[in-house]
This record gives sequence, C-alpha cells and structure tokens, in this order.
Amino acid sequence: MVQQLEHLAGRSLLTLSDFRSDEIRALLTLAHQARADRHAGITHQRFVGKSLAMLYEKRSTRTRSAFETAFGEEGGHAVFMTPEDIHLGAKESLADTARVLGRMFDAIQFRGFEQETAEELARHSGVPVYNGLTDSRHPTQVLADLMTLETHFERLEGLTLAYVGDSRNNIASSLMIGCALMGVNYISVGPAELAPDPALLARCQADAAAVGSTVGAATDLSNVRGADAVYTDVWVSMGEEAEEAARLDLLGPYQVDAALLRGTGNPDTIFMHDLPAVKGNEVTEEVFEGDASLVWEQAENRKHTAKALMLATLGAG
Ligand code: CP
Ligand code: NVA
Repeated sequence: MVQQLEHLAGRSLLTLSDFRSDEIRALLTLAHQARADRHAGITHQRFVGKSLAMLYEKRSTRTRSAFETAFGEEGGHAVFMTPEDIHLGAKESLADTARVLGRMFDAIQFRGFEQETAEELARHSGVPVYNGLTDSRHPTQVLADLMTLETHFERLEGLTLAYVGDSRNNIASSLMIGCALMGVNYISVGPAELAPDPALLARCQADAAAVGSTVGAATDLSNVRGADAVYTDVWVSMGEEAEEAARLDLLGPYQVDAALLRGTGNPDTIFMHDLPAVKGNEVTEEVFEGDASLVWEQAENRKHTAKALMLATLGAG
C-alpha cells in the first residue's frame, strides 16, 4: 500500500481511468482508516501549512462540504471561489489563472462544465487537480460509492451493480469505469437514447475482462435481476435543464420503485444514489427512505475518500 500511495504523490484525479486498480485499492484502505479515526475522535494535522483552491462553476452541497471540511480539519486552508469572484475564463485565460493558482496553492479542486477545463487546469498549474464533477465525469463520487459498497458487503470483487436511468451522464460513466477497474460487475439499464458512450463502454468491457468481471448496457428492466446494488441518479443533470420535458418522457419507465427493487430477486439488494435526489422522479420516497437505502453512507464517505485522495496526492498519507 505504501508503494501505491507514494506513486500517487503529485497526481491529479480528472477521471478514474487516471488511476490503476491497486492505487484505488490503496485510496479506499486509507479512506476506511480516515473514517475509523474520525468515528473514534482521533484527529490529525496532516495538511498544516497547505492550501487548496476550490473552483466552482456549478452548485454543490456534498462535494464542497467534503473537500472543505476534510482539508480544514487536518489544518489546511481551503479557499472557495466561483466565476463571480475570480477571472475564471473571463478577462484572463484559463491557462494564466492555472499558473497563478499553481504558485499559491498546493492543489486545486474543480467543479464545472467542461472536462477540458479540469484537464487544462492540471496541465498548466503544476499541482494536483481533483475533478469534483464535470458534465462527463464525477470520479470523487465513485470513490465514495466503492467505499460504501465495500463497507456493506465486505468485498468489491464479484458484486453486481445495476445502474438504472440516464446511463451516459457523469455518474454513470464514472461508475462504469470504477466498477470495471475494481471487479464489480456493472450493467446499466436505461433508454437507448441515453446509452453509455460506445467507446467508453468498450474500454470498460476490456478492463472488466482483465479482472474477470463484466460490463454491459441494456434497455430492459429485467436486467436488474441478481443485482446486489441498484443505483440511480437525477434525470436532468446540472446544465441540462432545457432537456427536462424530453427526459421525463424517456426516463419515466425507469423510476426505481419497490417493484423494481424486488425485480432483482435478491432480498438483500441495496439502493444507492449520489444525491441530490428528485424523489418522485428517478426514485420513489418509499425506496429512498427504505431500509435498503445507503444514501447517507455514500454522502458521508465523500468526506473520507476526499481526505484519502488529498493525503495520498499531497504526499501526506
Ligand atoms: N453527489 C454530489 O456531488 O453532490 P453535490 O452536488 O451536493 O456536491
Ligand atoms: N448527474 C448529476 C450529478 C450531481 C451530483 C449532475 O450532474 O447534476
């Protein structure tokens, strides 16, 4: 594990494909330790003297709270900035902003629209950049999801996760990548119009085959059969508000309700959602609030995985 953590020093997380499965394994182990320490009231000061720039083009509750508290409680100083506050792509080029931030901060955490913006920040700043959601990827969420699965089932390899809904969005794409790397069988179930990107699907299928698991995409809900976890996300992601009416039509048949959960044929299937949730759309109140729901664990684990990621990449783990 020490070797993997050392290998992560100085690295960015723009998409989970940036990391090997043994590196994700090491991060999850560190995150479990961070959670155990916090629950035992054990504190550390591993980010003293370090600063984190947090650039947000979109709103956030969990991601912002996770990174800001994880960094601050270890003695680091996080600075939250939006395009209202700084010259982000207006008046000054992104590359220039990145070079300035790289001289003042030890790392940058970005949430926004284009994946290319996260990539450019990493290219020009010279410090680790953490992608806290773009239109196409949400890797730090999936670290927390893998941690939640592992805590609940005490393993990852051989589990089956069925993602139901908008199967080409940021959550679905990152889940597919993360599951493929970690040996979790992954099947997305949703309308053909919102199927996963074929090139990404093919790459994930190859990654999964290498560790003896499977990745697939389907339109028929009977494909949730056998799933250990059913995961869904909002039907309309941030920035796609104009699509709302069309999405409701397309995704209506894919609402996760009690009957869909029963369709796994597995009485122990858990329900997962990255949040925020629109109850009555992608999930019923009954399932969301039901005993199978692990959504608050997922939310809490955002903090522990964010801490682990920063500890490793800042060489403090
Ligand atoms: N799951 C997630 O990223 O939540 P926020 O949008 O609140 O950060
Ligand atoms: N797909 C959602 C995820 C929110 C955390 C969105 O992009 O809005």
